[in-house]
Amino acid sequence: MSSIPEKGRPWAELKGELEASKADDYSWRDGRMAVYYYFLDDELMRVQQEAYTAFWTENNLGQRAFPSLKKLEDEVVAMALDLLKAPPSAGAAFTSGGSESIFLAVLAARNKARAERGIERPTIVLPRTAHPTFDRAAHYLGVRVVRVPTTRNDLRADVGAIERALTPDTVMIVGSAPNYPFGVFDPIAELGRLAERHGLWLHVDACVGGFLAPWVRKLGYDIPPFEFDVPGVSSMSADLHKYGMTAKGASLMLVRDKAWQKYHSFEFDNWERGKYAAMTTQGSRPGGAVAAAWAVMNYLGADGYLRVARQIMTTKEQLVAGITAIPGLAVVEPHELCIFVYHSVDPNLAIGAVADAMGRRGWLVGRQSEPPGIHLALNPNHDRIVEPYLADLRASVEEARGVAPEAAAAAERTY
Ligand SMILES: Cc1ncc(COP(=O)(O)O)c(C=O)c1O
Repeated sequence: MSSIPEKGRPWAELKGELEASKADDYSWRDGRMAVYYYFLDDELMRVQQEAYTAFWTENNLGQRAFPSLKKLEDEVVAMALDLLKAPPSAGAAFTSGGSESIFLAVLAARNKARAERGIERPTIVLPRTAHPTFDRAAHYLGVRVVRVPTTRNDLRADVGAIERALTPDTVMIVGSAPNYPFGVFDPIAELGRLAERHGLWLHVDACVGGFLAPWVRKLGYDIPPFEFDVPGVSSMSADLHKYGMTAKGASLMLVRDKAWQKYHSFEFDNWERGKYAAMTTQGSRPGGAVAAAWAVMNYLGADGYLRVARQIMTTKEQLVAGITAIPGLAVVEPHELCIFVYHSVDPNLAIGAVADAMGRRGWLVGRQSEPPGIHLALNPNHDRIVEPYLADLRASVEEARGVAPEAAAAAERTY
């Protein structure tokens, strides 16, 4: 067992050890994975890092002490509300990530239904493709979850099936923009009409699409409406630390009516130190995350975000064309943004064996379980891996041909 050393050690030595500890990590810089990271280029990384460290010590719990952070956070929120077509009544909380934003959405929907409708045993209804965090939040919050299969042919939320799953205890329905398993948008306009008809909270999980899809649409791609201009949308999660391209620890939980923020806020004064209030689940909050978000949004601007969007969509088109050209492989359709899945359509080709062979070639493979396949969530810097990835994939398919599915390593299916 190790313990804190008796005597401190020099930073130069520790720094070397930290760097060396990464030796077995996959290289995000070389695009060796399509999950977990977001990277455009070194210039943007410098902006993220310098902005973050400029507010390294400031605590965003203490906006009384740091009006600078309140101003920066207000400006980030205002830019996001504008991008996501929110009405003047709307507001947003700056959170630590998509999971916290979703947690606050489930909390708010539950508390609002409890206050207004006296619902004591709340249920939420979601398409099966929705992120696991809805179940995680529900687990913490005493909420029951019903997951409804998507339509078979287009992998979208089945609005009829969701309607049939509603009960008097339902407090919330969910749509993704897009979902993580397939990169497909749920029909938010139809879900909005359903929510309005039944007086339900509709949360749009735009953790992936919130800061990417509006730009992809501007480039001329067909992106369905998912923002607050869709009637019936109550709240939205949109991650700054994903395609907002900012530093980790940054997401927004946006609500159509700022007054609803009381349903995910907490106030307390039953201790000696007086009143304590928080709108998120955090107490102390990193000022750096806010400063980095503000700096990145202003540094990239619309033209920078369009560059990110173009780079990702062009890369996707090249990869999809290259993969489709490999006999035995097919891309799962549809896929509408930065995510897609491919699988085997040849009975003598186990996709697990292809994944194993790609793994041996140094790629971190995202394994999809239904259908068995390989999942990619693209970054701008994947533009440089198109050819090497396809070359390794062609070689991996040859190697995998004839390998029995049982012989393929049992996939570590952990997301
Ligand atoms: C659609 C979707 N929602 C929510 C999340 C959770 O976000 P985070 O990992 O920032 O907590 C993710 C993460 O990939 C996601 O893809």
